[in-house]
Amino acid sequence: MTDVVTMDKIVSLCRRRGFVFPSSEIYGGLGSSYDYGHYGVLLKENVKARWLEAMVRDREDIVALDSSIILHPRVWEASGHVSSFSDPLVDCRTCKLRFRADHLAESQCGKRPSKRPGETPECDLTPAREFNLMFETRVGAVEETGTDVYLRPETAQGIFINFKNVAQLARRKPPFGIAQIGKSFRNEITPGNFIFRTLEFEMMEMEYFVPPGEAEQWYRYWIDERRGWYLRFGLRESHLRVRPHEADELSHYSSGTSDIDYLYPIGWSELEGIANRGDYDLRAHSEASGTKLEWVDGVTNERYVPHVIEPAAGVNRSMLAFLCDAYDEEEVAGRERTVLRLHPQIAPVKAAVLPLIGKDSGMVERARSLFEELRGVALVEYDDSGQIGRRYRRQDEIGTPFAFTIDEQTIEDDTVTIRDRDSLAQERISLGRAQGHLLDRLGAPWRSPKPE
Ligand code: GAP
Repeated sequence: MTDVVTMDKIVSLCRRRGFVFPSSEIYGGLGSSYDYGHYGVLLKENVKARWLEAMVRDREDIVALDSSIILHPRVWEASGHVSSFSDPLVDCRTCKLRFRADHLAESQCGKRPSKRPGETPECDLTPAREFNLMFETRVGAVEETGTDVYLRPETAQGIFINFKNVAQLARRKPPFGIAQIGKSFRNEITPGNFIFRTLEFEMMEMEYFVPPGEAEQWYRYWIDERRGWYLRFGLRESHLRVRPHEADELSHYSSGTSDIDYLYPIGWSELEGIANRGDYDLRAHSEASGTKLEWVDGVTNERYVPHVIEPAAGVNRSMLAFLCDAYDEEEVAGRERTVLRLHPQIAPVKAAVLPLIGKDSGMVERARSLFEELRGVALVEYDDSGQIGRRYRRQDEIGTPFAFTIDEQTIEDDTVTIRDRDSLAQERISLGRAQGHLLDRLGAPWRSPKPE
C-alpha cells in the first residue's frame, strides 16, 4: 500500500482545521512565513514539551537556558556567522528573481515555470555570489548612533557565551549539556515547501560539553538518542535515516555532522542535524571576548576546553514530519475518512467528550461534568453540535486519539463508551473510571498503525 500523503493534502488539512495559515494573508501573504492557529500551537507545544522532558526532566546531566534573540554583534563575528553563514545566490536580470546557485535544479524560471533558471534563451543569470542569511536590525533610538545587530540564526551561540555562568552555577562537570528552545531567523531565498523552510522558526538545540577524548563516542550516542526519540513518538522507522555529511557539506564549525532525514512527501530531507563542533565555539569566544571558556576541575585543577556535540532540531520541521507520518485516509462503512494518526502525547487534543444527542439535557449535563473532570488532567474538547458522525470525523482530522460518548445507557447505568481513533473500537467503561482510563491510555507505548 502506498502512502496517500502529499504536501498539498497537509497544507489543505492544516488550513481547513486551523493548524497553520499563510502569514499576513489579508495583505497578500508574505513568502515563507506562516501563522499557527489553535491546534498548530497545541501540536507545536507538545513537540517542545516531549523534547524538553527527554533532554532535561528525564536526565540529570542537562540544564535549561533561555538566552536573548539579539546578542552583542561581536558574538556573530567570533562565531564565524558574519563571514561564513551564507548561501551562493544568482540573480536573473530578465525575470528579476533570485535563486540559490546550489538549488537551480529544483527551481522554476520566473517567465517559464516549466523550465529551470538558465534553461531558456531569455534567462540572463549573474555569476553566483555569497549572500549572508542573517537579518540585520538596529538597536538604539537615534539612527546615527544606533548599533547594527542581528536576529540570531541559531540558538546555539547564546549557549556558548553563557558557558561560564552555567558551568559554575549548575554544578555539573563534563559531560554535561545545556538545552534551549527558541526562535531563530534566516533570510532564506529558496521557497519553503510550507513550514519546512521559513524565515523564522523555532529550534530545539542542546550543546553537550565533553572531555575532548570522548567527543566521537558522544557524537554516536546523540545520533542514536535523537533517532530513538522520533521513533518513540511514532515516526515510522522506514521514513527515518541517518545521513553523514560529505566533507564539502560541513558547516564552518563542524568536524563531523550527521543529519536525521525524514522521508517527507518532497523526498528525503533534513529533520535534525547532529554535529561534532569540537572546541571551535568556546575557543572562538574565549579569544574574541578575553574571557576563558574552559573547564577547571575544582579538586584536581585539571583544565581543558570541552568539545561540543550538538543535536539541533527544528520544531516546525518536526511538526511537519509528525503530520506527514500521521496523515491517513480510509473508507469506513462506505464513507471516506481522513485521520491524523498522531502519537497520543503529540496529538493537540487528547480526548473529546460528546453527548450523543446534543439537545438531551440529561446527556449534556453528564457530558459537561465529565468534561470538567477530564480537563483537569488533559487537554480535552467538548462538542455537542451536529451529527455524531460528523463530530467524530472532525476529531479524527485533528488527530484526537480518544472520544467519550455519553448516550442513553449512561443515564441508566453511569457507563460511557470510549472510541479509539485508530481501530475505531468502542469500549464501555464506568464513568468513574474514565479519567484513570484516559491517563493509562495516554501513557501507554504507541506505534503507528500505518504500514512501514
Ligand atoms: N546550530 C546548528 C544549526 O543551526 P542547522 O542544520 O542549520 O544547524 C538545525 O539547523 C535545524 O533547524 C534543521 O535541522 C532544521 O530542522 C531547522 N531549520 C533550519 N533552517 C530552517 C528554516 N529556514 N526553517 C525551518 N526550520 C529550519
